[in-house]
Amino acid sequence: MEREKTEAKSMERPKDQYLSIAPDVKLGDGVRLSKFINLYGCEVGDETKIGAFVEIQKNAKVGKRCKVSSHTFICEGVEIEDNVFIGHSVTFINDSYPRATTGEGALQTEADWKVEVTRVKRGASIGSGSTILSQVTIGENALVGAGSVVTKDVPANSVVAGNPARVLRTNTDKKVNR
Ligand SMILES: CC(C)(COP(=O)(O)OP(=O)(O)OC[C@H]1O[C@@H](n2cnc3c(N)ncnc32)[C@H](O)[C@@H]1OP(=O)(O)O)[C@@H](O)C(=O)NCCC(=O)NCCS
Repeated sequence: MEREKTEAKSMERPKDQYLSIAPDVKLGDGVRLSKFINLYGCEVGDETKIGAFVEIQKNAKVGKRCKVSSHTFICEGVEIEDNVFIGHSVTFINDSYPRATTGEGALQTEADWKVEVTRVKRGASIGSGSTILSQVTIGENALVGAGSVVTKDVPANSVVAGNPARVLRTNTDKKVNR
């Protein structure tokens, strides 16, 4: 009896019970969301697909027809243009010298630090497990290898990899998996 009750209850729950989408999020047409996603104050463009356990913070923008793979963190200050691929567990950064507390020992608030911007240009791809430091631009159609730590701007159409990420080649034409 008790079991039946529980099942009935769970069936009544809304389909998106595991989605946390704040009312201020601007979602484009045809956006596809997996479960366990946390979005607030951000914009996501038409037809973009977002995997499970992705968090996108306020004032972050993701363009149209992007693919954001599971476990990725897109913080405030990140601007991602259209047709961008983001692999699994990619981390963006928006504070180069983070501190928990102020000089006086109180927990820092938004007034105590300034968001640093990061840009990912149209058609770029970022490999899984990469960390993108703040204030860099990943150029149009560039490809960042898996596990890279990107510390500097990535030229358009180039392939970079490693920690720190270095240019492997200056065009992405080779070995396109289609
Ligand atoms: C970087 C990448 C695109 C390959 O580019 P490429 O130009 O074809 O590179 P190659 O395979 O010819 O390798 C060139 C050199 O870079 C090294 N290399 C390749 N990928 C690397 C990476 N991710 N990190 C560090 N070094 C890497 C190779 O070992 C090789 O080194 P060597 O010259 O000392 O032998 C690919 O390895 C990669 O990381 N792709 C991302 C995959 C991904 O994350 N997909 C997302 C979800 S499935």
